[in-house]
Amino acid sequence: MPRLIAADTTESIELAELIETLETSGFDPQDEDNFASFGGALKKLGNNKSFLGDLIIGELKQRCAGQLRDNQYSAQVILLHSGTRYIIRANFWPAMKDSVIRHSGTDPFFYGVAHDHNFSFLTVGYFGPGYWSDYYEYDYGAVAGYPGEKVALRFVEKARLEEGKVMLYRAHQDVHLQLAADEMSISLNIVEASHSSSFRDQYRFDAVNGTLEGIMTRISLEPLLALAATQAGEDGRDLVTDYARRHPSDRIRWCALRAVVSAEPSIDSRLARFEAATADPSPLIAALARREAERIEVSRRWIEAPAA
Ligand SMILES: [Fe+2]
Repeated sequence: MPRLIAADTTESIELAELIETLETSGFDPQDEDNFASFGGALKKLGNNKSFLGDLIIGELKQRCAGQLRDNQYSAQVILLHSGTRYIIRANFWPAMKDSVIRHSGTDPFFYGVAHDHNFSFLTVGYFGPGYWSDYYEYDYGAVAGYPGEKVALRFVEKARLEEGKVMLYRAHQDVHLQLAADEMSISLNIVEASHSSSFRDQYRFDAVNGTLEGIMTRISLEPLLALAATQAGEDGRDLVTDYARRHPSDRIRWCALRAVVSAEPSIDSRLARFEAATADPSPLIAALARREAERIEVSRRWIEAPAA
């Protein structure tokens, strides 16, 4: 489960003081111990019970112009600050009885969805009893990353993010099946921000059957690769082929490979491309290529079957 941070300070600070601490005290979100050492500072902001209300009133007075300009999250999240290697945010966790759930459902809150994160983050319970989680851990390095893959999820415990509790969720390690808070709750986060996050997989799991259900990372590059492979002539195909060979993300390499294959003129040449990719050193690409090759074989048998 996430690393519990002992932080029993009753001191209270302003948001600007937390930002100054992060900017001037060698904050390094790639280093777990370093990240954890800022738990006390987040706890101090959590002890400040007026800053968030003041900030919300300020936003409402300017018709949420700041949030509309900078916040890429859903309405569940208030962006508090974007720093150089982090963001600070507040998250709302409604109860099942709250009108936002009754009218809009649970999807924006990930309730009932077991998932890991492709970024580390510190969190503190700020208001309310806190959301519940079934916590698991798993070995990211042992997972290729394709839907349906068996994953050894190790159940740790069921717990909730109570007010004042500070935890460090570790990227690609801690999994939680998140459940609604008993009453409306708020948490504050310091979230690792890096350009590589969007290329790192975040998984959704089936915790009951111990399988990987899908990828939660949005890859906006995928449709561009598909277009470049089919609509941009030889230059486009060369570029996408280069992505398929050399991009550091296996997920992007797979998207590029699939785009290149889609531009192939025949079933045989598509099949040959996928069969060659089954020997790729990436377990993800090899597994997905095997699956695609099998699909093509099955559909070809159906297409070429003599009419009865
Ligand atoms: Fe989560």
